[in-house]
Amino acid sequence: ELCLAASTGDNQKVKTLIASGADVTYFNKEGLTPLMLAAKQGHADVVKTLIDAGAPWNALSPANLSAGDFAMDLDAFDLLLNAGIRSELILGTIARKDNKVGDFDGDYLEDRVSFSEDKIMDADSKAVMMAWEKPLMEAHAKAICSGGHILNIGFGMGLVDTAIQQYGPASHTIVEAHPEVYKRMCASGWAEKENVKIVFGRWQDVIQQLDTYDGIFFDTYGEYYEDLREFHQHLPSLLKPGGIYSFFNGLCGGNAFFHVGYCQLVSLEL
Ligand SMILES: C[S@@+](CC[C@H](N)C(=O)[O-])C[C@H]1O[C@@H](n2cnc3c(N)ncnc32)[C@H](O)[C@@H]1O
Repeated sequence: ELCLAASTGDNQKVKTLIASGADVTYFNKEGLTPLMLAAKQGHADVVKTLIDAGAPWNALSPANLSAGDFAMDLDAFDLLLNAGIRSELILGTIARKDNKVGDFDGDYLEDRVSFSEDKIMDADSKAVMMAWEKPLMEAHAKAICSGGHILNIGFGMGLVDTAIQQYGPASHTIVEAHPEVYKRMCASGWAEKENVKIVFGRWQDVIQQLDTYDGIFFDTYGEYYEDLREFHQHLPSLLKPGGIYSFFNGLCGGNAFFHVGYCQLVSLEL
């Protein structure tokens, strides 16, 4: 009944049903929640009622779509986006207070990686970096390079570093933590380049050895949003006035709405 009222936009009925105990977390036989149905039909007032009643903004349909992915109306979309950002900000603050985030999960750095011409894979056969990302890395390099002193965190296949070199920076510092990636970059002559300084270690452990830079790029692997957030807190002391910072944004890459939410969150927190 709640699903029907939500999809027909009967806000009064939705309120009455909720007041009499209807379950706002219910999934119908298609795997959709009342919130998804209201968003899909563009009923922003119903979306608001359901969110206020605690309907989960981040529930997923069988096709991995959330209410925000279904939203056909800008007001409904904004309500869902604000609900998502608010909850992530609050949950992040609580988790940080309880020290439940940011713990170092060293697995990736302790495991072997395998190299081929067009990719680096981790021990679980997940891609650390792939050659198709070259144009993206070139765009990042272009954004951060205007001569001067450049810092890159995470060497990977060296795509962004190769592009950075083309701008002839005065200095080019690369931080890399994986022993095998580090070995490979040294073997391919990066340590001999005149303007290149390689710092081996996790950025978290070597940050005190770093200087200030005109351009900074950040692209690690096997880390969490909290690590990126922590790196951002160091930016004021790493970036020269007028300097440019860019990062690989793979935040919630598997869901378009969550990705938009995290883009907003990261800009709010930066
Ligand atoms: C996605 S790749 C970087 C790809 C690179 N942007 C390119 O253009 O090829 C991520 C790299 O970050 C390194 N890495 C992961 N965690 C790190 C950390 N905490 N500090 C420094 N490097 C890290 C990984 O070993 C890997 O080489």
